[in-house]
Amino acid sequence: MSGSSIASVITNGTVITGAGRENADVFISDGKIAAIASPGVIPVPEGAREIDASGCWVLPGMIDVHVHLREPGYVHKEDITTCTQAAAAGGVTTVFGMPNLNPVTKSRAILDDLFELYDTKSLVDWNHNPVPSELDEVLAMADAGIAAYKIYMVVDTGRDYPHPSGTGIHDNGHLLRMFEAINPTGLPFMVHPHDQAIMDVIEQSHWDRGDRSPKAYAETLATHNGLIWDTAIATLLRMSEATDTKLHIVHMQTAGSIEMVRQAKKRGVKVSCEVNHWALFLSTWNDVEELGPYALSYWVPDNHREAIWEGLNDGTIDMVSSDHAPHTREEKEVGWEDCWACHTGTPGIQDQYALLLDCAIDGKLSLERVAQVVAESPATEFRLGNKGFLRPGFDADIMIFDPLDTTKYSNETVLSRCGWTPYDGRSSKGTIVRTMVRGADVFDNGAVVGVPGWGQLARPTPFR
Ligand code: NCD
Ligand code: ZN
Ligand code: ZN
Repeated sequence: MSGSSIASVITNGTVITGAGRENADVFISDGKIAAIASPGVIPVPEGAREIDASGCWVLPGMIDVHVHLREPGYVHKEDITTCTQAAAAGGVTTVFGMPNLNPVTKSRAILDDLFELYDTKSLVDWNHNPVPSELDEVLAMADAGIAAYKIYMVVDTGRDYPHPSGTGIHDNGHLLRMFEAINPTGLPFMVHPHDQAIMDVIEQSHWDRGDRSPKAYAETLATHNGLIWDTAIATLLRMSEATDTKLHIVHMQTAGSIEMVRQAKKRGVKVSCEVNHWALFLSTWNDVEELGPYALSYWVPDNHREAIWEGLNDGTIDMVSSDHAPHTREEKEVGWEDCWACHTGTPGIQDQYALLLDCAIDGKLSLERVAQVVAESPATEFRLGNKGFLRPGFDADIMIFDPLDTTKYSNETVLSRCGWTPYDGRSSKGTIVRTMVRGADVFDNGAVVGVPGWGQLARPTPFR
């Protein structure tokens, strides 16, 4: 370590990684972690900035692999800058964008244009998952440096967003072709599981009763103990196994599918999966009653939520990601009358990390496991070589958390363009005081200080 090049030192904090926690000083040089040493052992070099983290936790910045940034096409909801401002405030240092945009990200040309947008507008590091529907575009998109592909096993009926045609399929033959086309790239295939044919039948029987309220919507999608999700996940696991292609499942929300993934991992299927903020901290029956359309995505019955926490702790669920899904109030309000007409999904990128740490303070998972599920596992599963770990040589993507302070969630402090949070009125223990991306502050003491364009492509290590 050459002392003169050290730009900053985070002193006296408790450094938390998947391997343990220790009081240590973190030395940062050229955007990377240069050293981690017991407090005071290495003096703070002359000219270096000292960040006193006494009493605070020093954690890896979150790698959020499932984010709807809405640009291009839906910038009345969000854009890359507003979304990554919210990310910075929420301790998120890398985002993966989703392809349900206009145009849908399905070709190398569209992807190149989008990369240029991220390059000028993102405060944090980024990547983007395109749709592999145009099979002859699949390899060219891999060569651009993407981390994964994304498809939805659903096309919305009764509304034109967030699952428009072009992002979704409901043909298993086409799905199998996609697995086969992706295989040579070695990249993971991220899939929103959903059995549309079964859903159509279940929906029709519920609609016949004339009730389109949020409660009816919640019950419909959860019918038969999660049949819509479990049948899709069974198919996906089998296709992943058959084609030997890495699968990443989003929206884990049922006990049955968690058990299927547990068993699949045991027999060596290449699968990872995530749980989203709304399944952990929202979407109880009480939330459905009180917040209606603002709480949904999907209702998660209590027994399933217990299975989620168990799966998160035992490693079956690899990571937490936001599925940050900003929609305007107008787009949500219609849901009180007709939840099938309202755009599904809830924003959460600003809130999830602090909410997860609140659960850790309550003992629902260890701090070490938090470091794994927010950063180390996503970096490993998506092969982001220099990211995710607080270790010498890795990018200095860091979040500093004061466990004794309090976070108050309010629509007033929302940075997302949508202007609301489902957590409005809640509070949690501890607060995010600083977020750093490659050694530079992007959030400091209540204010976003990062600049659009600082973010870089988080490129996976090549597979081919
Ligand atoms: C997402 C959105 O709004 O883009 N909505 C949601 O319900 N989570 C789409 C998606 O993740 O399926
Ligand atoms: Zn989805
Ligand atoms: Zn999503």
